[in-house]
Amino acid sequence: MNFDQRFKQISPEEIHDNVFTLVGKDFFAITAGKKDHYNSMIGSGGGFGMLFKKPTTWCLLRADRYTLEMIEKEQTYTLSYFPNEYKEQMLFLGSKSGRDNKKMKEVELTDIQTPCGNISFEEARLIFECRLTQLTTPNLDDFYTQEAKDYLNEAYKEASDYRKYLFGEITHIWVKRQE
Ligand SMILES: Cc1cc2nc3c(=O)[nH]c(=O)nc-3n(C[C@H](O)[C@H](O)[C@H](O)COP(=O)(O)O)c2cc1C
Repeated sequence: MNFDQRFKQISPEEIHDNVFTLVGKDFFAITAGKKDHYNSMIGSGGGFGMLFKKPTTWCLLRADRYTLEMIEKEQTYTLSYFPNEYKEQMLFLGSKSGRDNKKMKEVELTDIQTPCGNISFEEARLIFECRLTQLTTPNLDDFYTQEAKDYLNEAYKEASDYRKYLFGEITHIWVKRQE
């Protein structure tokens, strides 16, 4: 089965999922790279909205994530949501870095290429393809609440711990076709 037989493209307005469930309760695989070399990590939090008049998603990534390095190189990436039965495989993607190139060979998920050449997984139920718009390392002075200041102070002890805000224009949204 090719990609179009498995997935159907929808518009942002057709997303049925509750947006706060997507970023507040669910977690998602963030994948960058192309068929010959790609890497995934797990993300949670962030959000969906409009930026420069484009549907956009944002996430918070620690500076030392290998996936982030690949996003900067490729400037495109996918966010993939899975049915609950794949929780274990997802947690595996969030358990160690793929910098040594072994994680993606070991994970029990089947990679699939979108028509644009980005990578997601056959098992995904919802896929966002994104184009990198902005990668920002916020300044401590940008924060006003004590909780945010405390979080950033803790996170900014080492440069590798910096939390980067990643904004990506949503170029395509795909949902799994009913089997
Ligand atoms: C449930 C869950 C949520 C996570 N959320 C984030 C996140 O939002 N940002 C982040 O930088 N790391 C997050 N992580 C940690 C990364 O997924 C993890 O460090 C991963 O191994 C990084 O892989 P990489 O170095 O191959 O990119 C999360 C991990 C789990 C298990």
